[in-house]
Amino acid sequence: MSYSIHIDNPNPYPINIGVTYPEVWHLCQSAVELAWSPTRDIDFSDLEKADLPPEVRTAGAEWWSLRAWMEHVAIAYGAERLKEAVASHQPLEVKQQITNFINEELRHHEGSFRIAEALDKFHTSPRVSYMQEIIPTFHDENHERKLPFLAGLALNALFESMSGDLLTPRTRNAKFESIRQVCKLIDRDEARHVQFGRILLRYHAKDISVEDKEVIGQVFVKKLRDVLLRGVYSVINLPPQDRAHAGRVREIAAEWGLGASRPEDEVEILRGSLKRIREWVEPHGFHIPRVPELDEEAEAVAA
Ligand SMILES: [Fe+2]
Ligand SMILES: [Fe+2]
Repeated sequence: MSYSIHIDNPNPYPINIGVTYPEVWHLCQSAVELAWSPTRDIDFSDLEKADLPPEVRTAGAEWWSLRAWMEHVAIAYGAERLKEAVASHQPLEVKQQITNFINEELRHHEGSFRIAEALDKFHTSPRVSYMQEIIPTFHDENHERKLPFLAGLALNALFESMSGDLLTPRTRNAKFESIRQVCKLIDRDEARHVQFGRILLRYHAKDISVEDKEVIGQVFVKKLRDVLLRGVYSVINLPPQDRAHAGRVREIAAEWGLGASRPEDEVEILRGSLKRIREWVEPHGFHIPRVPELDEEAEAVAA
């Protein structure tokens, strides 16, 4: 029998099984112990049975559809990183962690669309045009490829930590057990995603060039302002009409305890997040440029 030696897959050898990052291996073990399933572990019937006005169900479904789209973007991002990890012969625990990451983002997506479905209907595409444009730019491979592999993963952890900070008040806002559980379990997974980035940064910040550190700061701020503050994390950078619509959806969802945050609270939370991110990365030689939407207020308070 003969085997073709012409294959498109990367050469897998040597397949290393030693552990380079024990803390990442620990995260992998935790991921196994803390795995959950939206279908098996969450009962969404409390939302179906709830006495909610139709406009509240509509707003809640739009809000949770947005949450589902965001989580879905992370799946594509993770798939690209997994390909890179395999091709560049990363240690086993890095490949394992990224695989877990993909699986976890998938269940975040599922938990979110199941809430939207139980409330009303999951929106397979955004109904408002600005969202049609914004969500696809959330993950841009051209940006990712500008950075060394591990530096890019560390950058992603910055966004994960902001997203995690927003989840805390949303969990507190949730009056329904199903939503509260989904928020809490997503938050628990996200904490591991942030940890992963922090561990890699601790090991590798010294190997990232000054230029790449500058790029990371700039890419972070650009994505934050152009994408995440335009209707994803917050509505602050949307044009007035769109901001009014998106803000209203969040207000209604928050008022009825559907696991949402109010626009004015989001800005405050993100301001705190940005401060913590700076404190975390600046000692490693990174500089996060000014974010006028968040820094201006803080400067006014300090003045
Ligand atoms: Fe997620
Ligand atoms: Fe995540």
